[in-house]
Amino acid sequence: MNDFVRVVEVGPRDGLQNEKTAVATADKIALIDRLSATGLRTIEATSFVSPRWVPQLADAAEVYAGIDRRPGIAYPVLVPNEQGYDRARAAGVTEVAVFTAASEAFNRANTNAGIDESIERFRPILARAAADGVKVRGYVSTVLGCPYQGEVAVSAVVDVARRLHDLGCYEISLGDTIGVGTPLKARRMLAAVAVEVPMAALAVHFHDTYGQALANIAACLEEGVRVVDSAVSGAGGCPYARGASGNVASEDVVYMLQGMGIDTGIDLPALAATGRWLAGLLGRETGSKAGRALAAT
Ligand code: HMG
Ligand code: MG
Repeated sequence: MNDFVRVVEVGPRDGLQNEKTAVATADKIALIDRLSATGLRTIEATSFVSPRWVPQLADAAEVYAGIDRRPGIAYPVLVPNEQGYDRARAAGVTEVAVFTAASEAFNRANTNAGIDESIERFRPILARAAADGVKVRGYVSTVLGCPYQGEVAVSAVVDVARRLHDLGCYEISLGDTIGVGTPLKARRMLAAVAVEVPMAALAVHFHDTYGQALANIAACLEEGVRVVDSAVSGAGGCPYARGASGNVASEDVVYMLQGMGIDTGIDLPALAATGRWLAGLLGRETGSKAGRALAAT
């Protein structure tokens, strides 16, 4: 494989939204600025969700205002509703991400709305975004299992992904929120979605709870996906998904892609150093195996 994969760095958002350690606004800004110097093209910066639901990201506007936004890098933010979109736009945001799930129970726990209701919430956001020239990404969570209902039908994933794409989301990220997926199931799920949504508009988003994330990504790359979400240092998890551990570590993903001859445009030593710096800030060792190995070389 000699081609390009866009790594979507979600650490500043997915990584920090579930942190017990309070992270200072200035450190969040420093994290994003360091990531901007590694060659990443997309860095999910924060979330304009309810600060009651996710107090860790209550400083979203300050973070967004404080970062050094470089040309050629997208800094999307999560918005759950029009109020979030208003706040994001007031902060000067030019790309947002909306999120729903393939499981009704999870979506209620995460957003206090059923799947249909959440999609109705997105309709005015997509309409306004089109008028404002704002790009919108869409997430489907629980694509390989739900912490509340267990099994999730592939047909439900396909249906929600297609609806988000029809609504105007330029890219749909398929989230294994609790990291229960395994490679063959992941690949089959992706293939089924790709029948309805073009592969070029799909991304994969694996949490590493059971240590399957890299294997899942490798399987999905073989199926044709070329956008992969990950979090530096393996930080992350959804506070409304019991048992969800960190995202796959960006450093490990980039190491694997380099080994496959796939270009990412990312400076791996710089990314790994950022991961170790973040881990130091959080008072622990980096969650990236590549990050640890590179420190020893
Ligand atoms: P709700 O309580 O039903 O909201 O929450 P509401 O509309 O009834 O409003 C209640 C109060 O919240 C009001 O304030 C609103 O103003 C305020 P009050 O009048 O009581 O003082 N409010 C807001 N404030 C600031 N910003 C907003 C906002 N919206 C309402 N945007 C809501 C519904 C959707 C807001 C809430 O459930 C929420 O914020 N959920 C987000 C949870 C979350 O962020 N989860 C993690 C991200 S998803 C994820 O991690 C998965 C992913 O990584 C992919 C994967 O791994 O699968 C993406
Ligand atoms: Mg996630």
